Amino acid sequence: MYRSHTNGELTIKNVNQEVTLSGWVQKVRDKGFMIWVDLRDRYGITQLIFDEERTDKSIMELAKTLGREFVIQVTGKVIEREAKNKNIPTGEIEILVEKLTILNQAKLPPFTIEDETDGGEELRMKYRYLDMRRNPIREKMIFRSKVTMEVRNYLSNQGFIDVETPYLIKSTPEGARDFIVPSRMNAGQFYALPQSPQTFKQLLMVGGLDKYFQIVKCFRDEDLRADRQPEFTQIDCEMAFVEQEDILNVFEGLTRHLLKEVNGVAIDKFPRMTYEEAMKTYGNDKPDIRFDMKFGELNDLAQNKGFGVFDSQELVVGIAAPGCANYTRKQTDKLIDFVKQPQVGANGLIWAKYNEDGTFKSSVDKFFSQEDLAMWAERLDAKKGDLMLVMAGNANKTRTQLSVLRMEMAERLNLRNPKEFAPLWVVDFPLLEWDEETNRYHAMHHPFTSPKPEDVSLLETNPGKVRANAYDLVLNGNEIGGGSIRIFDKTMQSRMFDLLGFTKEEAQNQFGFLMNAFEYGAPPHGGLAFGLDRLVAILGGQESIRDFIAFPKNNSGRDVMIDAPANIDNSQLNELYLQLNYEKKDS
Ligand code: AMO
Repeated sequence: MYRSHTNGELTIKNVNQEVTLSGWVQKVRDKGFMIWVDLRDRYGITQLIFDEERTDKSIMELAKTLGREFVIQVTGKVIEREAKNKNIPTGEIEILVEKLTILNQAKLPPFTIEDETDGGEELRMKYRYLDMRRNPIREKMIFRSKVTMEVRNYLSNQGFIDVETPYLIKSTPEGARDFIVPSRMNAGQFYALPQSPQTFKQLLMVGGLDKYFQIVKCFRDEDLRADRQPEFTQIDCEMAFVEQEDILNVFEGLTRHLLKEVNGVAIDKFPRMTYEEAMKTYGNDKPDIRFDMKFGELNDLAQNKGFGVFDSQELVVGIAAPGCANYTRKQTDKLIDFVKQPQVGANGLIWAKYNEDGTFKSSVDKFFSQEDLAMWAERLDAKKGDLMLVMAGNANKTRTQLSVLRMEMAERLNLRNPKEFAPLWVVDFPLLEWDEETNRYHAMHHPFTSPKPEDVSLLETNPGKVRANAYDLVLNGNEIGGGSIRIFDKTMQSRMFDLLGFTKEEAQNQFGFLMNAFEYGAPPHGGLAFGLDRLVAILGGQESIRDFIAFPKNNSGRDVMIDAPANIDNSQLNELYLQLNYEKKDS
């Protein structure tokens, strides 16, 4: 028996018991005649004591050889501590060691295994198994497991069945590039790893399984960011004989359940907003509604007053930053620099202070009177003490830029409290999106999303205006999930592929299997997928998903621990009928 108890378990109630513990050496304090060791495992830390007067000489000697991260087993007696530590559950006791076994030695770890480590990101990833011994990472793994279990319980109680779909498939277009796997048994042919199980889950509905879910890995070869990994996990779901309302209700229920069980937060009905409203009010289809700073459009108030910068533009739009009227010149200049940096790309920024005494001071006083600025204030819902920030330009671009500024102001003003949760459904997404580069329409969600029945006639006349039965769940300004009601009719699906620029042959080659299935009695169906990594990170109070993934990849898509991707032998290449047309990189 390696242990009778874990290291997080023993308290004053266990005094005088004989126990056996195992774990890692967190810390050794050697006073010569007395040695203390902090013994760690997943459950906590227990203090061991070796005392010249009470401990065998040979054990005392052995204890002196202990180093950080050695794996040991001890047997001894639980005694009351003299200097108690109120911060940990085991802080009132220690173990007077009678028997010590070194189970394994350890090299000195390349960074300290403490909550605040001295290890940089790359080093921590290379030795992720050591990083994981630290509380913050271990807690995140346990947290993720808890969320996953709650999801499984909830959906399973709602009658969903967990079905696995294949990983070696043919590409499904979801907007990103596919990861490709060559086939040894089929010369010159390739599988693709799924960007999502989209078409399979629809086929499960044709197959009559009615309510499907899967916690499933998805693969997308796209540029990485803090909230994106090349392989990530979805809570993927599909339901038959449902309308949008049914789906929103089930997944609002799931999210409410998680917020309650995992975070202890009770949230009533989630608000809903159309895509159009979100873009107009927040310049963003995933608005963070934990704070206001809603957009106000100023064209009628700010144009034709002699200020050329506004007059020539499609949109003049602003926000009121609460309590910022006392910004200094240096601070407003910094904001101007912020919006002008290439990542934001604005031409400039106009500011107007609504002073506490009710007067206004702006960077455009030459053109706008106090009365003008008072009307801006009303439109932007500015209060005394607020700073109005106004931008002008092409409508879409300017909204996006102002949205970035809105988030920046929220950061500066500490309005993004990670312990507060503000979910929001964004509904009625456009079906199609015009792509300037390829000069054609793309599916905004994916090609299987159905248009709103009342907009179908627009497909012929003004496809860009067609709204879809598509929805996203946004939590604290992050897109947690998205889905849609699907097309289940072959003619409509084929019309969709036409619109997206597929020839009949291409559509047949790529999606013949789905359109064929639609000829054998496909039920009306729809679904959605949550990004599990993102959901877990937000519930855990963070926006970066990396620490919630056991073995994440870095920004170049590399696993620095196992050193992948890597070269393969020529023999392996030959077997796969592959030939490289560039020099192999030295690994
Ligand atoms: P979508 O492409 O919107 O929908 O993906 C669903 C959710 O998955 C998460 N997500 C990611 N998380 C981490 N890293 C990534 N690279 C990444 N990409 C996406 C997001 C997103 O909201 N088949 C459809 C769903 C459906 O229609 O039912 C789909 O995959 O949180």
